[in-house]
Amino acid sequence: MTDALAIATNQLDQFGYLNLEVDPTLDLVAAINQLKKEKNAVILAHYYQESEIQDIADYIGDSLGLSQQAAQTQADMIVFAGVHFMAETAKMLSPQKKVLLPDLKAGCSLADSCPPHLFRKFKEKYPDHVVVSYINCTAELKTLTDICCTSTNAVQIIESIPKDREIIFAPDKNLGAYLIKKTGRDMVLWNGACMVHEIFSQERIIKLKNRHPHAKFIAHPECEAHILDMADYIGSTTGLLKFTINDPCTEFIVATEAGILHQMQLASPTKTFIPAPPENNCACNECPHMKRNTLEKLYLCMLYDLPEIVLPDWVIEQGRNSIDRMMEVSAKAGLMGGVKR
Ligand code: 13P
Ligand code: SF4
Repeated sequence: MTDALAIATNQLDQFGYLNLEVDPTLDLVAAINQLKKEKNAVILAHYYQESEIQDIADYIGDSLGLSQQAAQTQADMIVFAGVHFMAETAKMLSPQKKVLLPDLKAGCSLADSCPPHLFRKFKEKYPDHVVVSYINCTAELKTLTDICCTSTNAVQIIESIPKDREIIFAPDKNLGAYLIKKTGRDMVLWNGACMVHEIFSQERIIKLKNRHPHAKFIAHPECEAHILDMADYIGSTTGLLKFTINDPCTEFIVATEAGILHQMQLASPTKTFIPAPPENNCACNECPHMKRNTLEKLYLCMLYDLPEIVLPDWVIEQGRNSIDRMMEVSAKAGLMGGVKR
């Protein structure tokens, strides 16, 4: 092992990213754009990324849109400005490409809430059920899944399953409960949740609505039922963004990760967007995993081609079917989940 590789390996084990000094006078945006050209790379960014990362990305989108881009791209390298399960999904869809994630510790509380060894035992209790997993789960969980879904296509995915088949839905109990209500299908739910979408305070939202009587309250279906019950509109991040563009209302209280407000404000500069308040005065409606990515880490990962997402062949082979099935249903329904810049 060369010295440089040994240092890089040690850094990744310790921090999850290359913790190297970056010249503070460097124009990071210009340097990243240069590396993008040299390496024929594409930067895919989720709506929950810091706005400076969204601004430099080739595509910005929700989980479905970014998966669609990862499957289609002609680039040699996919740089995923998002979290671990999203980069894993990109690798499964484009296994021949190099997939980089600026910080390997950019995880997901929802994916972590469903360890595959426990889910395997749970699934054994329902041998005849179809397993639908929200894409916010590990690659290994996808090997135990019949069909994945995202928040953009979840209703269509559930409706694509024959009515006489019973369903297990994992890992998000809140999205699962919303889908039971929306589709009328009874489902066995795994008891998982997203730390960001469970933090909203009903009491503080009611107070905020009273102070802004003309504002519409919009929410992501990962929120708890008592929050969704108050919503004027429920949708995925792309759904929420489109709603704010098309609805004549000029003021919105938004219950999802606060990163989406950047695109909402860019698309509708004269409208007002208010992040829904969390239980206390913390920045808990910002996902700490998503926010691990920074421009510096993005630059370093493109410079050194590290950290790279590597998956065992069996995981790609067995997990891929559940994503392919989801992509087929989405294509038939004409669903798209993102913005091309
Ligand atoms: P979507 O990207 O499907 O809106 O999901 C939100 C989310 O929590 C991603 O981590
Ligand atoms: Fe996971 Fe929630 Fe963060 Fe999305 S917002 S990455 S579901 S913890």
